[in-house]
Amino acid sequence: MLSRALVGFALLLHVNCKLAPVVTLNDGNLMPAFGLGTWLGTTPSGSLAPVENDEVQRAVEVAIDAGYRHIDTAAIYSTEEQVGLAVRNKIKQGVIKREDIFITTKLWNDHHAREDVPKGLDSSLRKLGMEYVDLYLIHFPIGTYPNMTDDHTDYLDTWRSMIELKERGLTRSVGVSNFNVAMLERLTAETGVVPAVLQVEISLTIQQPSLLAYCRAHNISVVGYTPFGTLFLHNKTAPPPRVDSPELVAIAQRHNKTVPQIVLRYVYELGVTPIPKSVKKSRIEQNLDIFDFELSEEERQQLSSYDQNYRSLDLSLWKHHPYYPFEQ
Ligand SMILES: NC(=O)c1ccc[n+]([C@@H]2O[C@H](COP(=O)([O-])OP(=O)(O)OC[C@H]3O[C@@H](n4cnc5c(N)ncnc54)[C@H](OP(=O)(O)O)[C@@H]3O)[C@@H](O)[C@H]2O)c1
Ligand SMILES: *[C@@H]1O[C@H](CO)[C@@H](O)[C@H](O)[C@H]1NC(C)=O
Ligand SMILES: *[C@@H]1O[C@H](CO)[C@@H](O)[C@H](O)[C@H]1NC(C)=O
Ligand SMILES: *[C@@H]1O[C@H](CO)[C@@H](O)[C@H](O)[C@H]1NC(C)=O
Ligand SMILES: *[C@@H]1O[C@H](CO)[C@@H](O)[C@H](O)[C@H]1NC(C)=O
Repeated sequence: MLSRALVGFALLLHVNCKLAPVVTLNDGNLMPAFGLGTWLGTTPSGSLAPVENDEVQRAVEVAIDAGYRHIDTAAIYSTEEQVGLAVRNKIKQGVIKREDIFITTKLWNDHHAREDVPKGLDSSLRKLGMEYVDLYLIHFPIGTYPNMTDDHTDYLDTWRSMIELKERGLTRSVGVSNFNVAMLERLTAETGVVPAVLQVEISLTIQQPSLLAYCRAHNISVVGYTPFGTLFLHNKTAPPPRVDSPELVAIAQRHNKTVPQIVLRYVYELGVTPIPKSVKKSRIEQNLDIFDFELSEEERQQLSSYDQNYRSLDLSLWKHHPYYPFEQ
């Protein structure tokens, strides 16, 4: 009787804690197709927002309880310690095992030299308190020294060092972020190792159809950052749509969902793994709740119409760098 009640309770918990679908990467590893971002963004003056309290740790704990099994961090975010604490707490509490959760971190631009790459991962692993990560990404093809001058290390050398880290078991998979098609082709042609993942900006204003087609054809799994794009901006000069756009509100009402959920579902239906960031419990829970409905062809067409190759993340300070990846 008691055990039946416990089973019932466990089932109930399971129903309340719906997990995202999983994709198989080109190296055979599995990646949950939805994750939590942990970058706190920039201040109005453009510098990195300081990490001042334990809000990221609390967000990651809430996310794991809600069913997130994929967390995105990076050395430059200064949130690796908090991600690590949260994950280790949830392991201690018996909510997850290490192998149930997919942890991504990223090599910063000041560690591109071949001998610095292992130091970058070693530092991240120590901060996370983990023996391995699931995915290690080159954050940008652009090298910069700590004094912010350009480092012209070829990203191909950086990539060779990444491959060695995978062979040593310190990361299960390796990939890149903010690379363009020509750069992806060069990595593959020169090393024979196709990145398992490309992480790039994907939102309504930058849907990158040709980049996605290339990745689909080469079995590179795309993770989409800044999925909300300009949705919450008050700045009138940034392109539409906004969260109160009547077209988006109509789609949301039709599905009894919120506009942010519609945007995340659309990104997911493009074949992309969204990694929205939130530190607020209700939003963390809401954002994951997109796996019980589908957009219609007409709705997808409406949503595709906002694409105008507009980046929210302005990287033009590196425009002069020989490995600047973008057209503008
Ligand atoms: N590889 C790269 O170069 C790169 C670049 C940028 C980002 N990333 C990764 O991608 C993640 C996501 O991108 P992002 O943080 O730039 O932008 P984002 O996830 O598109 O947007 C985050 C913003 O949306 C708010 N928000 C989240 N859910 C909401 C909801 N349901 N309703 C209303 N507001 C909501 C958040 O505020 P609250 O927290 O207050 O809820 C936060 O201000 C980052 O955290 C990072 O992990 C990677
Ligand atoms: C990608 O490669 C993996 C590993 O070989 C394979 O299991 C998966 O089906 C491939 N996915 C696609 C979309 O081709
Ligand atoms: C910046 O650092 C690099 C690498 O240590 C060094 O070669 C270069 O001279 C430095 N530049 C300036 C302006 O300090
Ligand atoms: C508003 O957006 C435009 C276009 O993206 C940008 O050039 C401008 O700097 C933004 N202004 C503010 C105050 O964020
Ligand atoms: C609409 O969504 C809300 C929030 O998820 C839920 O509580 C409510 O039951 C839903 N209503 C219908 C008619 O499905």
